[in-house]
Amino acid sequence: MKKINKAVFPVAGMGTRFLPATKASPKEMMPVVDKPLIQYAVEEAVAAGIRDMIFVTGRSKRAIEDHFDKAYELESELERKGKIELLNLVQNLLPKNINCIYIRQPEALGLGHAVLCAQSVIGNEPFAVLLADDLIDANPPVMKQMVDAFATHQCTILGVQEVARADTASYGIVASTPLIEGFESITRIVEKPSPATAPSTLAVVGRYILSPRIFHHLAEIETGSSDEIQLTDGIQAMLAGEQVLAYRYRGKRYDCGSKLGYLEATVAFGLHHPEVGMAFAASLKNR
Ligand code: G1P
Repeated sequence: MKKINKAVFPVAGMGTRFLPATKASPKEMMPVVDKPLIQYAVEEAVAAGIRDMIFVTGRSKRAIEDHFDKAYELESELERKGKIELLNLVQNLLPKNINCIYIRQPEALGLGHAVLCAQSVIGNEPFAVLLADDLIDANPPVMKQMVDAFATHQCTILGVQEVARADTASYGIVASTPLIEGFESITRIVEKPSPATAPSTLAVVGRYILSPRIFHHLAEIETGSSDEIQLTDGIQAMLAGEQVLAYRYRGKRYDCGSKLGYLEATVAFGLHHPEVGMAFAASLKNR
């Protein structure tokens, strides 16, 4: 029985949709209420029992490394001022048994290329991929749902949801046949098809459990959509030899790569927030 121990976070993207906010700081560091997007994604992986977090980073992404590192000056300042609660918060961002590993993606050659950059750290075991700008409110967290499903199915699993036909050109879209409740067997996957050519409206969101065989295919495929090495094309190539499942996860996804999705996430997470939720609800009502 194989187990998922490692997660890849591709965080080298430029975040052009949020300029100028992302000019000098990574889009994955944008906060929803009081936590950056990347922290939500890492917490989701931790909740799924994953211990090794592999960040594929690029230029001007150092803030992500600093976020998960020790902050000596800040900690001694908080200690000196007796702000013990805040000190505990920054010291215990992640459980102690978590390893953070950073790999540089030298050029923005696509999501598939970013995943391929993690090959030497992953080796020959199945692994998770989480895209931090897909923030998913779910209980249990979506990656935990997928790791549990992996324990039974032992194959590649992609998180999917229905989208409007008008939106297919923003996603990897699958053609599939129903398997058991919540699961479909994928027969084809296409990156960002136009609404007219999309094989369905079932879209991949940023949660994957991948067989290590994906590396072989990512190394072989040509550039695809947007002239990039696409993870979707690697998965399509893998379909000839392995089963790939689509999993209709239970949860509400916010596309925090878009301004509207980000604002919706801020409202939803703000309303749930233990410290400000009630006051925020009242202030929204009074507008
Ligand atoms: C990426 C993937 C796409 C997937 C999407 C989910 O696209 O290439 O297949 O559906 O994430 O968010 P991006 O949003 O990075 O353009």
